[in-house]
Amino acid sequence: MQLSSRANSLTPSLSLSVDSKAKAMKSEGLDVCGFGAGEPDFDTPEHIKAAAIAALETGFTKYTPSSGIPELRQAISEKLEKDNGLSYKPSQIIVSTGAKHSCYNAILATCQPGDEVIIPSPYWLSYPEMVRLAGAEPIFVQTKEENGWKITRDEFENAMTPRTKMIILNSPNNPTGAVYTREEIAGIAEVAAEEEILILSDEIYEKLVYDGHEHVSIGSLGNEFYDLTITVNGFSKAYAMTGWRLGYLAAPEPIARAIDSIQSHVTSNPCSFAQKGALAALKGDQQSIADMRDEFDMRRQYIVERFAKIPSVSIVKPNGAFYVLANISKLGLTSQNFADRLLSKANVSVVPGIAFGDDRTVRFSYATSLDVIKKGMDRFEDFCRTL
Ligand SMILES: Cc1ncc(COP(=O)(O)O)c(C=O)c1O
Repeated sequence: MQLSSRANSLTPSLSLSVDSKAKAMKSEGLDVCGFGAGEPDFDTPEHIKAAAIAALETGFTKYTPSSGIPELRQAISEKLEKDNGLSYKPSQIIVSTGAKHSCYNAILATCQPGDEVIIPSPYWLSYPEMVRLAGAEPIFVQTKEENGWKITRDEFENAMTPRTKMIILNSPNNPTGAVYTREEIAGIAEVAAEEEILILSDEIYEKLVYDGHEHVSIGSLGNEFYDLTITVNGFSKAYAMTGWRLGYLAAPEPIARAIDSIQSHVTSNPCSFAQKGALAALKGDQQSIADMRDEFDMRRQYIVERFAKIPSVSIVKPNGAFYVLANISKLGLTSQNFADRLLSKANVSVVPGIAFGDDRTVRFSYATSLDVIKKGMDRFEDFCRTL
């Protein structure tokens, strides 16, 4: 069987496979401390579930418009205005099967063979594969730990070539937890505008920022930037709705129309009753977001304190999302080797940084209970001492 070169060029998602390995060990009865998960460990709030159940019970089970139901697109438009200072008409908003799907739609609609897409590294592992699927070329820019793992204006400028089509910005960031400041975002926006480079702004972790840091939407900084920006967001992280598979993007009209067309042929529409749940999420009480963020913050502070006591490992204190990227390069193992040994010897699962383009690191997710974090960090500390 001859697979397509497109399929052959892909590597499967390492973070999902780490997670399933840990789950398999757990189901064999092993006491595994899992730091691999990329999803909130909370349940979806009841009022959201109730809205989806009501939709099912009243027969809201048919195809919907391919870009999503009008009332949800309207609610997203209002949310983007209120939370992000972004003015998008509902016609510019495409609801999809997750922010992941929105990112892919955005890349597929705008990038093609011959184009280069700048991806600051470490990066969320799906971006390069999406760029390759579109036939374009990912160009990685290694960010520095001393810059908080954030691409600088100069680094962006230096990576630019006549073929540069897009930069992918993800703040708050997976896997580093970095949050770009308003000034840093403005610097990136200005460079992009000078050369008319598209900006894919993945804002899926926008609600998870700590220590008074603010989330800034790059498209809100001025019309010249808005016209170049595709803003991606979704329901997975803010409302603990990962399994519902619902996200969205907002873009200039021509891009939104192209994506509507792509989506209509590929998935028809996002799940009908999940959209009703998403509508309830946006319209309902937002307290669950604050509660979840406070819980993540408490865990973040604990895990950061624990890392401070392990001299062989360094971290940059994360200001957002629910990840810590640990630099393990002093311990002399590749990230895959380190993660494998940590799992087999100490029953602790982490994601090797090679998955995010940085073999000196491993990623810890603190989207797990404080008890698991405490036990897991005890084991991790002991394990590091044995190396
Ligand atoms: C940076 C980033 N973008 C997008 C997604 C995907 O979100 P969704 O579940 O809405 O597809 C994730 C999920 O881990 C992520 O980390």
